[in-house]
Amino acid sequence: MSCFMSLCLSIWVVLMMPGRTSAQTNIDVMVMLPRNNTYLFSYQRVSPAIEYAKKILGRDELFAGLKFNVQYQNSACGMDALYALVDKQRDERPDLILGPVCEYTAASVVRVASHWNIPVISAGALATGFNVKGIEYSHLTRIAPTYLKMAETFQAMFGRFGWRTASLIYDDDKDERNCYFTIEGVFTVLSEYNIVTDYAVFNSNEEKVDADGIIASVYGSEVVIMCTKADTVRDLMLAAHRRKLTSDSHIFFNIELFNSSSYGDGSWRRGDKYDNEAKAAYSFLNTVTLLRSTKPEFEEFSMEMKKSLQESDIPVCEDCSAVNMFMEGFHDSLILYATALREVMSNGLTKKNGLEITHNMWNRTFEGIAGQVSVDANGDRNGDFSVVRMTDPEAGTHETVMSYFGENKSFQIMPSFKNEWFNLRTAPSPKHSDPSCGLGVSAVTGIIVGAILGTALLMGFYFFRKNYRITIERRIPREECDIGKHRQLREDSIRSNFSAA
Ligand SMILES: *[C@@H]1O[C@H](CO)[C@@H](O)[C@H](O)[C@H]1NC(C)=O
Ligand SMILES: *[C@@H]1O[C@H](CO)[C@@H](O)[C@H](O)[C@H]1NC(C)=O
Ligand SMILES: *[C@@H]1O[C@H](CO)[C@@H](O)[C@H](O)[C@H]1NC(C)=O
Ligand SMILES: *[C@@H]1O[C@H](CO)[C@@H](O)[C@H](O)[C@H]1NC(C)=O
Repeated sequence: MSCFMSLCLSIWVVLMMPGRTSAQTNIDVMVMLPRNNTYLFSYQRVSPAIEYAKKILGRDELFAGLKFNVQYQNSACGMDALYALVDKQRDERPDLILGPVCEYTAASVVRVASHWNIPVISAGALATGFNVKGIEYSHLTRIAPTYLKMAETFQAMFGRFGWRTASLIYDDDKDERNCYFTIEGVFTVLSEYNIVTDYAVFNSNEEKVDADGIIASVYGSEVVIMCTKADTVRDLMLAAHRRKLTSDSHIFFNIELFNSSSYGDGSWRRGDKYDNEAKAAYSFLNTVTLLRSTKPEFEEFSMEMKKSLQESDIPVCEDCSAVNMFMEGFHDSLILYATALREVMSNGLTKKNGLEITHNMWNRTFEGIAGQVSVDANGDRNGDFSVVRMTDPEAGTHETVMSYFGENKSFQIMPSFKNEWFNLRTAPSPKHSDPSCGLGVSAVTGIIVGAILGTALLMGFYFFRKNYRITIERRIPREECDIGKHRQLREDSIRSNFSAA
């Protein structure tokens, strides 16, 4: 009898133990990513990473009682995500949203989610406009380093090497506008740091890029910073090399944060007659990219991702990593959310306290799948970046020559680093200046040409002007016209685009 009593007692004790009896919490997660696999963050690529995180959390005692129900929604990088969200009835609304990555899609979704008190974690939404968390974007946590964080790398380099002027060259597709937002970050940070910037913009989807014309316009700047397609980078570097700008008067950077197959060894190669020349030109090109780290746990993750991708027919290269930053980011998002939710719940709140959960995720450092992840007090991840460069011009091999750590704002200089790569030996030639600000060179030339050679040539001139528009815009004297141009860059942000829509 007493034996039976003690058995009952021990069963009762076990049942009453905290954690065991607490009811299971179901968390509805809505993942908003495009289905189209041309995106590095398509949900076929990212979902294995989210499922992996779910599995890890499911195995962890700490998170016993949390059950994640993950639903995938094709955002199509457009309005579909927003519509799917607003079509939900009040009691069907998700507890957590992962994504969207594309800037304009994220802007609308985050606004609604913030209004509905739903936390949003994205490995995208990197544009500067999201920095002001205020009311509109109050529930957004960014788990990948933003463009502003990337731009701090440039600010630090400008400070360290004493550069004063920059030309920003970017490809604006007028659609997702990744390069526009990338350069907006650089522009914002450098102008706060009193670096004189100038820019050339084109849309490679709509026009043939006049690489030589653009390069002709960078003479007056010490540093050239490019964001465009890999093929255009090659054309620009070839043009710069032919004009002998590469050797000692200019420093060239290309920004490529996510697609590791578009820079590094062999990136100059196209199998055409310019390969050798391009290789020589690329020996002066620096690429700023996200610093990748790994740790033992990462190996298993990486293997699983590779397996899942192969099963879903996504091409995976043999010797390179199948994992990209979006996969890492969305994996870490779920871990971060679970950690925050647990803490918030231990304070007596629930999964419905979206703002408290969001704030709990901020100003925190935790272990991600590839290493430490530090989220700043504004809910944006601190970034670490690498500068990759060809270190052996004969073999054409690339290495990381320095890394920048955003959290402690310090550089790590690699053994392969050479000072001469980043120090200018000759000052760039002074800028061509033209007093006719509003009119510009094109119109002046137009009048002269037209007067002398007549209409036939004028028609030719229009063709000429179309192709050379970029150069011409750039020749307008900086002192008088910059204010207007810069205002345009500033105002043309997420905010204004959306207000207009
Ligand atoms: C995916 O996107 C690419 C590029 O935008 C497009 O050409 C292709 O048709 C799309 N595929 C599908 C299935 O929508
Ligand atoms: C990545 O870069 C490679 C090489 O330039 C290119 O073929 C590929 O389409 C790019 N992928 C994406 C998703 O942009
Ligand atoms: C961030 O956390 C640190 C301690 O970890 C604290 O001292 C600091 O006040 C926090 N900052 C904000 C803005 O909450
Ligand atoms: C900055 O942080 C990185 C990575 O966390 C570390 O490796 C490096 O030693 C730190 N540098 C300084 C100067 O503290």
